[in-house]
Amino acid sequence: MQLIDGKATSNAIKIEIAEEVRKLTAQGGKKPHLAAILVGEDGASRTYVNHKVKSCEQVGFTSSLYKFDADTSEEELLKTIDELNNNADVDGFIVQLPLPKHINETKVTEAIDPEKDVDGFHPTNLGKMMLGLPTFLPATPYGIVQLLDRYNIETSGKKCVIIGRSHIVGTPMSLLMSRNAKVGNCTVTLTHSRTQNLKEECQQADILIVALGRAEFVTADMVKEGAVVVDVGITRIEDPSKKSGFSLKGDVKFDEVAEKASWITPVPGGVGPMTVVSLLMNTLESARRKSV
Ligand code: GUN
Repeated sequence: MQLIDGKATSNAIKIEIAEEVRKLTAQGGKKPHLAAILVGEDGASRTYVNHKVKSCEQVGFTSSLYKFDADTSEEELLKTIDELNNNADVDGFIVQLPLPKHINETKVTEAIDPEKDVDGFHPTNLGKMMLGLPTFLPATPYGIVQLLDRYNIETSGKKCVIIGRSHIVGTPMSLLMSRNAKVGNCTVTLTHSRTQNLKEECQQADILIVALGRAEFVTADMVKEGAVVVDVGITRIEDPSKKSGFSLKGDVKFDEVAEKASWITPVPGGVGPMTVVSLLMNTLESARRKSV
């Protein structure tokens, strides 16, 4: 087994981004600016947003964080989105999901200017992705594509099985893995909660991408010898021995699956840091588009 090190790869990409920012500003351009909206007190969401803000600092971006209480109205949130759409200094922004139940996620996503939608969740950007047109790719799938690319993992002609059909990961990932591109050309099976014989489907996978959000769901008996395993899940499990009070578990039972896999991503330190760096890449791209 060989480890796909998302932490090291994301650090290498951050150095490349920081260099691009230096070039942009040396030519008289402004620093790329990413804004993030966080609604409510969800601990995991807060951590993710803090990582995003910290990463902006590391690469020389400007960042802004808009925090709202859990009982903030949809109207107030839409007003802030409108302001960010019209703020020429902001190159891109995200609304951290999930949102409180009284706020319509679709309405919020559709309110974001597609040109600033660096999460790539707007229907216009998802449509462009489907057609293979230039766009902002959703951050997690984009991060996975970059990992497979940088580790020179052959995907062409391979059978890729994805577990989970979310709008954020599974569904866009299935499109990216099937497209005609350097990372792509797979025969893709998108599985979900109604899939029959899930174990048998997974056993066929040369590349198994797991994004269902259930800790240690994938066991060694579900995995083919020599498969490439990408674990997207991050679940917090109570752990009194840790200072934080919890430990992080992936969707894959790492120790036993690692014995069969040719390549595998760990949790933490696999897909997570790549998601953040993809967001930075999309923001840099947005800033570049504006400067030409
Ligand atoms: N919640 C879980 N993943 C993501 C993501 O990539 N972007 C946003 N905005 N929210 C998320």
